[in-house]
Amino acid sequence: MTPSTLITNIGELTTNVAAPGDPCGTIRDAAVLIEGGRIAWVGHAADAEKHHLGRDTTQPTISQPKSGLSSAAVVDAGRRAVIPGFVDSHTHLVFGGDRADEFEARMTGTPYAAGGIRRTVAATRAASDNELRRRLAGFVAELRAQGTTTFEVKTGYGLTVRDEARLARLAAEVTPEVTFLGAHVVPAEYAERRAEYVDLVCAEMLHACAPHARWIDVFCEVGAFTPEESLRILGAGIAAGLLPRVHGNQLGFGAGVRLAVAVGAASVDHCTYLDDEDVAALAASDTVATLLPGVEFSTRQPYPDARRLIDAGVTVALASDCNPGSSFTSSMPLMIALAVREMGMTTAEAVWAATAGGARALRRDDVGGIASGMRADLVLLDAPTRTHLAYRPGVPLVHTVWRDGAPA
Ligand code: NIG
Ligand code: FE
Repeated sequence: MTPSTLITNIGELTTNVAAPGDPCGTIRDAAVLIEGGRIAWVGHAADAEKHHLGRDTTQPTISQPKSGLSSAAVVDAGRRAVIPGFVDSHTHLVFGGDRADEFEARMTGTPYAAGGIRRTVAATRAASDNELRRRLAGFVAELRAQGTTTFEVKTGYGLTVRDEARLARLAAEVTPEVTFLGAHVVPAEYAERRAEYVDLVCAEMLHACAPHARWIDVFCEVGAFTPEESLRILGAGIAAGLLPRVHGNQLGFGAGVRLAVAVGAASVDHCTYLDDEDVAALAASDTVATLLPGVEFSTRQPYPDARRLIDAGVTVALASDCNPGSSFTSSMPLMIALAVREMGMTTAEAVWAATAGGARALRRDDVGGIASGMRADLVLLDAPTRTHLAYRPGVPLVHTVWRDGAPA
């Protein structure tokens, strides 16, 4: 069992246990006790000693330390801020090659197109398991160093039964949040036979991937899959026991959001082009709108309007969408900075969206907050407040990351 740790002298603690007017449930001068990989207690630093280190001078007769607590390691946060570990609910981290040349071209005016995915498919098929595994391990280390403690990984760069199953298996080695995305694009060899490809995704490919996956996703967009194809694919995934999520409304207006709501998807991701009906449908549903501002940054698209969504009552998450085409960054602090600077979110809303919002998008209640019983995933920032995540863009502010109660 992981030893107990008391983190005390925290200047600003973001718990995400909502209080009136404060969705971040902020506690100043706080302390957190970690036991056995879980949060055991959260409160004011002044109360921590009294309640948890057995030094309660008001009740000297019961001042014996509880078992294990006498050996708690005490970490002095030095009045810095502590936030929950980031929950990155949308990544595509298993792939070969990169597309830096496409990025260069975009910066001088070439628009982003979904078809670029096929280049990464070719590079991924050519890579061995060990090459992909090594690359993935590098990304996982990169994520962790930046404060991400839970992340989802999608398939979608294999697009054969064998390659999709291999990507799902490799992803499952690093996270329980694996998404089968055989419906990323129609691969080149099926260009003239797309109905056959959809059949393959719904049957053999799905059954090869489902044992390794929790989620099914589809890229419902012009240039990828039609709403009818998307509905069929999601239905097949649901029948196979997977939970639905959708890529939609990234490159233009379309049916992605309404489809996601109709199938009860946990999340619809991108949401860059939304009409009033889409916003109303989201507001009336349990589907999270996951915004991926790394994409707009890297493709020079207009940013999604987070303010409009939040004001309408939609639950918003932020994620990196880390992938070699549209957003080759794994930095959740960058997503927060972009959301605040470009999308009308307050820093508190953005930090909530990158932690609790991501947890909602993955239907997880054990991560994304700092409360008794939750997994002890915390980030000590080298900054006095969470505002510094947006205020000091591009500066590495992660001091210490605890995952499952253990410092990483
Ligand atoms: O989320 N939208 C679809 N898939 C990725 C892009 C993948 C790529 O360009 O390789 C995305 O943006
Ligand atoms: Fe994506």
